[in-house]
Amino acid sequence: MKELLEQEFLKRFGTGGRPNVYFAGGRVNLIGEHIDYSGGKVFPCALALGTYVAVRRRGDGERIFQSVGVSDGWEKYPQAVLSAMRQAGIDFSGGFEVLVAGDLPLGAGLSSSASLEVAIAYALSDMFGLGISNKDIALLCQKAENDFVGVSCGIMDQFAVAMGKEGCAIYLDTHSLKYEHIPLAMEECELLILDTKKSRKLSESKYNERRSECERALKCLQKRLDIEALCELTEADFSANAELIDDPVCLRRARHAVFENRRVEEAVSLLGQGDMAAFGRLMNQSHFSLRDDYEVSCEELDVLTDILRRQDGVLGARMTGAGFGGCVVALVERDKAEAVALLTLEEYRSIIGHEGACYRGVGGAPKRI
Ligand code: GLA
Repeated sequence: MKELLEQEFLKRFGTGGRPNVYFAGGRVNLIGEHIDYSGGKVFPCALALGTYVAVRRRGDGERIFQSVGVSDGWEKYPQAVLSAMRQAGIDFSGGFEVLVAGDLPLGAGLSSSASLEVAIAYALSDMFGLGISNKDIALLCQKAENDFVGVSCGIMDQFAVAMGKEGCAIYLDTHSLKYEHIPLAMEECELLILDTKKSRKLSESKYNERRSECERALKCLQKRLDIEALCELTEADFSANAELIDDPVCLRRARHAVFENRRVEEAVSLLGQGDMAAFGRLMNQSHFSLRDDYEVSCEELDVLTDILRRQDGVLGARMTGAGFGGCVVALVERDKAEAVALLTLEEYRSIIGHEGACYRGVGGAPKRI
């Protein structure tokens, strides 16, 4: 990819110095879904698939963004990063030309937008000596997305992409931003990512709806409880105070948040003990909660996870990301992974009527390559 991108760069912008090339991955969330805006704990990791950017300075002050094979509307992300930098007082003069390419499927729930934002911020910080830490890059890119792209996402995606570490997932407390890299030491198992190839059309409006339902549930609980976020509650405290939530839908949304947060804590401790079977069972429970209480799944995601769960060698499977389409993550015994992927995709096609796809490989932090 690097060589091809460099060649294309020189073709488009002319010879006159080789560009620097940078990479940032996508992300997959292992467990802890739809709770990064309720102060919950999440457990994502960066992917080996991601975004490549080639950058070179320009003497005339112009700033040019071009892409290879990236769909329309992508320029708003780098522009948003520049605006967020200005807003944060990170001003740098100087022009540049940027060529973007990637191997991450777009709109598949693997955070292609966070990957692009982080890759751009990281590249500019390095090229212009801005010295922005990776953690600040994550926060800056979340601001870019919230204030300038207009998507009110939580911090998980940008954090997972900017703060990834090879061979590890990130145990992140989205309330305090404390985090820990946890080695995915899974000799016997691996993660498979299966794509429904259903684009997440509804996801933005439904995403905002879920956020406000959680806010409403929180307000109700605050009448009696001194809490700032839903995920501060234990399951017992939640059950004891659930009657405060006046709306049955909001009650189910809040229940998902509280129980999902607990599952994340448990999952991380099970990983430490090497109990992958129990980890997988929590992934299944997470999916059921997202399907029934949070209602962010869809037929394709349910079919795909059902097919997976029926197969020998699959320890657990759940939707990952915002939902309403996109991808599933499954924990699978390593020696059966190939067969599981093939059989799953075949059965998926025969039930749903179109192809899915399978991706493998976790990655690390953004880097110059
Ligand atoms: C999207 C958002 C994240 C997170 C997930 C759901 O990916 O960008 O902040 O809320 O959905 O877990």
